[in-house]
Amino acid sequence: MSSRKKLLLMGRSGSGKSSMRSIIFLNYSAFDTRRLGATIDVEHSHLRFLGNMTLNLWDCGGQDVFMDNYFSSQKDHIFKMVQVLIHVFDVESKSIKKDMEIFVKSLTNLQKFSPDAKIFILLHKMDLVQIDKRDELFSMMMEKLQNISNPFQFKLVGFPTSIWDESLYKAWSQIVCSLIPNMNLFNNNLIKFNQILDAEEIILFEKTTFLVISSTSSIKQQKQPDLQDEETLDPKRFEKISNIIKTYKQSISKLRTNFHNLVIRGSNGTHFYIDILTDNLFIMIVLKDKQLTDSTYVSSHEELVVLENIKAARKWFE
Ligand code: GTP
Ligand code: MG
Repeated sequence: MSSRKKLLLMGRSGSGKSSMRSIIFLNYSAFDTRRLGATIDVEHSHLRFLGNMTLNLWDCGGQDVFMDNYFSSQKDHIFKMVQVLIHVFDVESKSIKKDMEIFVKSLTNLQKFSPDAKIFILLHKMDLVQIDKRDELFSMMMEKLQNISNPFQFKLVGFPTSIWDESLYKAWSQIVCSLIPNMNLFNNNLIKFNQILDAEEIILFEKTTFLVISSTSSIKQQKQPDLQDEETLDPKRFEKISNIIKTYKQSISKLRTNFHNLVIRGSNGTHFYIDILTDNLFIMIVLKDKQLTDSTYVSSHEELVVLENIKAARKWFE
């Protein structure tokens, strides 16, 4: 059964709504967003996601003349049957009072027409803020927004974002995962798969957006969660991979080609396999060379075994 999810992208004009939509769903690079014009009224996109899910993205142009309509003559049309509201704030905005006014109007209408909607706040264009000031600014703004929304029943989930780094992927992975009904199935099957593979890490990515859907750590790590890896792992590694692979896919699509799978042999005996798992998913497997005898024979044999195992696991994820 196919399920449709309505996502509202709201926020003042120039806050970056269409930019993020184009990067995540339309394969734009951050540079490409400079040529986007202001959105006129609402731009709809219908995106197939994980096979039977359709994301209906309503990118609502943020100029005052359009906003006024959303909150008056169009309010039931805009705010009914919404699953997720993504409210984007430009952290460098010079008119915070007006930004807050719009936010309160959105909450008021959402409470009336879609009281069960989830709300995500993106404090966007963080690249424009000095690095050592970002955490403080984020906490301060979230506290302010939480106070404003106290009279409503919504719980806010916020992310600092920028189109110039991987933060956008972290936010959008979590937004999209909040809409997937059978998340546990993905997680459980990944754990089951890793009991066979004994990999350091396995990650599932949605095929067109490369957003992270699920991941599992090594069995050793799962049994002893306090166990520290010798080299502490980068907590942003998943969204960094999304960003890197997406950029790589854009580059090779200019050569009119696409990749099916990719094997990277790290110098420290770590091997990375990225392969198509199903019509909707890519899988990434991180393996450490157990024998540390990195002969070509061992590597190409391992490669075949891993790729065969991925083929065999396909049915679990379809
Ligand atoms: P309306 O359609 O009028 O509502 O505006 P919008 O919210 O869709 O803004 P849009 O995505 O068109 O972005 C406006 C400008 O902001 C573009 O020139 C983008 O390149 C720029 N921009 C978007 N995101 C970021 C970001 O994270 N950092 C910086 N520095 N600029 C950004
Ligand atoms: Mg726009």
